[in-house]
Amino acid sequence: MARSSWKTRFGFYLAAVGSACGLGNLWRFPYVVGENGGGAFVLLYVLLALILGLPLMVGELILGRSSERSLLKATENMQTPGGRSLRWVGRLSVVMLFVVLSYYAVISGWVLHFVTQFALHLFSESFETHGALGILQKNGWLQVGLASVHLLICLVVVLRGVQEGLEKFIGAMMPAFTLLLLILMFKSISLPSSPDALRFLFYPDFSKLNWSSLSHAIGHVCFTLSVGFGTMVTFGSYMTSRDHVPTAGFRVTLLDTFLSLAAGLLVFPIALQASSETALTDPSLLFEVLPKFLGGSKGGVVFGFTFFVFLYLAALGASIGLFEVIVSNVVDLSKAPRSKVSWWVGSIALCLALGPALSSSAFQNFRFHGKSILESLDSLFVNWFLPLMALGVSICISLGMKKSDQEKLFVDSHHLEAEALFDHWSWALKYLVPGLIIFAMFLQVIGLFV
Ligand code: PFF
Repeated sequence: MARSSWKTRFGFYLAAVGSACGLGNLWRFPYVVGENGGGAFVLLYVLLALILGLPLMVGELILGRSSERSLLKATENMQTPGGRSLRWVGRLSVVMLFVVLSYYAVISGWVLHFVTQFALHLFSESFETHGALGILQKNGWLQVGLASVHLLICLVVVLRGVQEGLEKFIGAMMPAFTLLLLILMFKSISLPSSPDALRFLFYPDFSKLNWSSLSHAIGHVCFTLSVGFGTMVTFGSYMTSRDHVPTAGFRVTLLDTFLSLAAGLLVFPIALQASSETALTDPSLLFEVLPKFLGGSKGGVVFGFTFFVFLYLAALGASIGLFEVIVSNVVDLSKAPRSKVSWWVGSIALCLALGPALSSSAFQNFRFHGKSILESLDSLFVNWFLPLMALGVSICISLGMKKSDQEKLFVDSHHLEAEALFDHWSWALKYLVPGLIIFAMFLQVIGLFV
């Protein structure tokens, strides 16, 4: 069966950027930075995006381009010695994608809730958003309903296939996305609290880092760049021979990292201005602080509505990426019709979403180390499983692919300059990435005992 590919060269960028830029940048990045003390963590994050995230992204794209299959099938087909024993990496990645899609759908549902709240008050001077998150958290079935609506929207886009669905949707969304970010960032940076926010974000105080900070940073880099899940393997499999893989990987990494920093610049001045007592470390930071501030300030309702529409579009782009990759993996393996697989994926994700959606209501007594189901899933998967998956993926690419095949895709006739970089990339993927992940895991385990 011929692999479909992007209609335009831009199509790949749109889908990869759409998958990378999402709640990870806007919801997760600010509170993880808060949790890990600010500037030093931001520095670590940017550094790791370049030396760990980028090599992994290029590796995943190369594996996808060369196998023209998703990770699951690509690992099944590996011919090199040791390659076949790496099949578990492909299988685990699908489990991981399902879990992340389910709780991601719940948080996307929260965003939808705020979109509708702001829309309902669009013509009022202001409105009291206080408690809007509380209402949502107490009403688990409302969260289930919102997550279902979100999954249904993803299903409709994915059902239409790679070219028509993804390319059209993300192509229409990106200009709005960029414009809104610029407007919002400008408004936020002009607040009086912005010097404090800048100091917090960019002044590195290394004493604030802890035993887990390195693995938190690695997990977050992988989460936000959508690497370690095999996502980029799937997107790479849809690339055409016109695309140069390392250049594409570099652009997506750079854009996503800038977007996280822009999200920090957007969230922190507002957070520090809105209320000093609200913990910057709380996962609900964005949803507690921003609506309260925006709902109460002049013109803030329109501003808030715009912000949450923007956030929802970003969440949708990333969820479609997650959804598409699961569907593509299963279709590659089973040859079942795409539409049937898509319905199954949506239904299973919805069942799995029940746990996180009801975590603050019906299941509020299920707590692990004081954390709710949703918080535990997020921290367990991103801080522990995702770095280990990234380790597996890097080993898969280094051991499972012939070096000559990697080089063919890395260095093409139009990009001979990449020849000089090939050995560095190959070394980083084979030694630096695994070494950093093993070291980070070791530190994190020590942190459990001290
Ligand atoms: N990178 C996305 C974000 O930052 O929100 C999350 C994500 C999307 C992870 C798609 C994995 C994925 F396959």
